[in-house]
Amino acid sequence: MNAFPAIDPIPLPAPIWLFKALHIVTLALHFFAVELLLGGLLVAVWLSFLGSRNRRHPAATLRLTAAAALGRRLPIVVTYVINLGVPPLLFAQVLYGRALYTSSVLLGAYWIAVIFLLMGCYWHIYRFSAFAESGRNAAWVKGLVGWVLAIIIAGIYSTNMTLMLRPEVWASMYAASPTGLRLPPHDPTLLVRWLFMLTGGFWVAGIWMIWLAGRRVFEDPVRRYLSATGGRLAVVMLLVQGVMAWQVLATQTPGVRETLFGAPLYLGSAWAWAGSAAAILIFAAWASIAKPVSKAAGWTGAVLTLVCLLGAVLVRDGIRDFTLLAKGYDVWERTVVTNWPVVGLFLALFVAGLGALAWLISVMMRARPVAERAT
Ligand code: HEM
Repeated sequence: MNAFPAIDPIPLPAPIWLFKALHIVTLALHFFAVELLLGGLLVAVWLSFLGSRNRRHPAATLRLTAAAALGRRLPIVVTYVINLGVPPLLFAQVLYGRALYTSSVLLGAYWIAVIFLLMGCYWHIYRFSAFAESGRNAAWVKGLVGWVLAIIIAGIYSTNMTLMLRPEVWASMYAASPTGLRLPPHDPTLLVRWLFMLTGGFWVAGIWMIWLAGRRVFEDPVRRYLSATGGRLAVVMLLVQGVMAWQVLATQTPGVRETLFGAPLYLGSAWAWAGSAAAILIFAAWASIAKPVSKAAGWTGAVLTLVCLLGAVLVRDGIRDFTLLAKGYDVWERTVVTNWPVVGLFLALFVAGLGALAWLISVMMRARPVAERAT
């Protein structure tokens, strides 16, 4: 029996490839922000803890300044996490609604809890940011609570995105309890998927530190500390995430792996992903030694990171499509009646929105820098 609900008879108003392209691009941007948050927050907490534990340590001021620099920017990162999460959620619902709605209902209590967990997480990040900037000893505790809430949210997302691929367990889960409080039965792909996202956060945070080192708002020793520490962190955590990536692929069924690497798009994406990860590894190793303080180094890291995340998101998309296909759900099998005027209007507004965003960022970058010193 096919467990997927019937296809919505209303046709899609735009080509499926367009929805998929928009979904992949916006999801890569969401993941960029998520990784900055998951990694950057814990790194800031750790530096704040080390710095405040022993203020006479020669590196204490550098640690506290670096923690405050990250902490100051984290509330802004959260706004990007949320706003860049909405578009892929809408596109995912259009493309995979029959699977995603079902799993979201089955996990109802946890899914709805995300809103409250997110509010708690955001509040703690604001407190951490303020405490870290004023150099208070207890700052790291606030940050740690915020981080724990963030990884719980990430866990709920991973659980839902995994359950949507398992129509075979839906009926028994609902029969056992329709309250939305029941967690799905064990799935070997879940833990590694979640750890893949968490470990990725730390190397992205390292690249972020190299980017921050290019900002003239910090004094020279802080900039060199940021780029050297960021480079070292990125090297180690890229290798750890590489192991996780291997595990993610190893836990897929042989059929999914074969079809995935037999498809030129996903094979190419996997190469782009691996190639950019290798380039980041070399770049970060260089940064850990050369301690660059240039904007060019920061942007190099940022662009490579975006390419790497795009590659990973594409491979992830292929895994989902082939897993669902093997269970009778073909994402391409939909009636499409394209409403071109609406599509045109949407794209024009989308481009205008991106232009407005780029302009806002350029205004921010041109603003007169305010020195950020240790407190
Ligand atoms: C602290 C807040 C958040 C964290 C830590 C977070 C983290 C994550 C993680 C780890 C995933 C990947 C799950 C997986 O595939 O294993 C994910 C996916 C996703 N997140 Fe977020 N997220 C957050 C907030 C949000 C918000 C507020 C939205 C939307 C309003 C959102 C929308 C999405 C969507 C749509 C996906 C997956 C889409 C797909 O698979 O097609 N996220 N998020």
